[in-house]
Amino acid sequence: MEQLVAQIEQYKKEISQVTVANAADVEAFRIKYLGTKGLVKTIMGEMKSVDADKKREAGQLLNEFKIYVEARFEEIRNIGEEHSVATTAVDLSLPGADLPLGARHPISIIQNKIIQIFHRLGFAVAEGNEIEDDWHNFSALNLPENHPARDMQDTFYISQNPDWLLRTHTSSVQIREMQKGVLPLRIICPGRVYRNETISARAHCFFNQVEGLYIAENVSFADLKQTLYFFVQEMFGKDVKVRFRPSYFPFTEPSAEMDISCLICGGEGCSVCKKTGWVEILGCGMVHPKVLENCGIDPNKYTGFAFGMGIERITMLSYQIKDLRLFSENDTRFLQQFTPATS
Ligand code: PHE
Repeated sequence: MEQLVAQIEQYKKEISQVTVANAADVEAFRIKYLGTKGLVKTIMGEMKSVDADKKREAGQLLNEFKIYVEARFEEIRNIGEEHSVATTAVDLSLPGADLPLGARHPISIIQNKIIQIFHRLGFAVAEGNEIEDDWHNFSALNLPENHPARDMQDTFYISQNPDWLLRTHTSSVQIREMQKGVLPLRIICPGRVYRNETISARAHCFFNQVEGLYIAENVSFADLKQTLYFFVQEMFGKDVKVRFRPSYFPFTEPSAEMDISCLICGGEGCSVCKKTGWVEILGCGMVHPKVLENCGIDPNKYTGFAFGMGIERITMLSYQIKDLRLFSENDTRFLQQFTPATS
């Protein structure tokens, strides 16, 4: 017992004199005294050689020693931290380093602008899933199986379930909204869509759309034209000319495509407008009565118009970007050019 007491006194003295200069010294202390093979563990082991009647006393002594070493370790750790702050601290009077500021993606900027314009006309945003079933993407839109118009939209199917696919347009969101049966309905549906197309400067296997839908009593083609005129003027300015060409979509009747005068050459003819002076920006038409019926809406009471545009196309025209692959390559040299202020 006496020996133990003397030994502990000796260690305490040693420990009280330890000095540290850095984190490595602190760690060395921990290993030497508190580690698994450290002094505290070793000396605890000596309990076995203490006589049975002294065990209690010795246990208490050793426990106190352990507490002492732990407390000393705390002290040493604090000293070590102070040292390391003092030696590695930065000069706080130096000017701060700039954090690089991100930029909004051009597609987001233009999508937000489109949403804002239609918002002013009372259109609310509706969103849906990118994985759709065949009915919502095709059948409900008057594209029954084997309909040749399905070829217009080369589709990615999900191998797990032949009924599932990546939506080819956000018209599927319109179907889901119509099914809810709350009329009149005035929505725009922004979102990403997928088509199995060869990637080039003008086409990609995924892109973004905004589709619009207005259903109420007595909606006419004149309403559609006026809505789209308003959109084009807000989007591209008052000088832009607009023309409608008859077209075909299975879900609208009559259908049209809308062109605007080329923003690059002002209608003179250039490579972007393929020397025609016009650029197509969207498809539109009066919602086919069958589509209304498919969604449980009475076509004798309600009529509606729909339109759909690719955001990439509008963005390319707005910023004069010639290759749409730039939108998905994540090259910050390209993306940094579009500050939020542009929106
Ligand atoms: N859904 C069509 C497409 O993706 C666009 C469109 C929408 C055309 C509404 C007419 C009416 O190409």
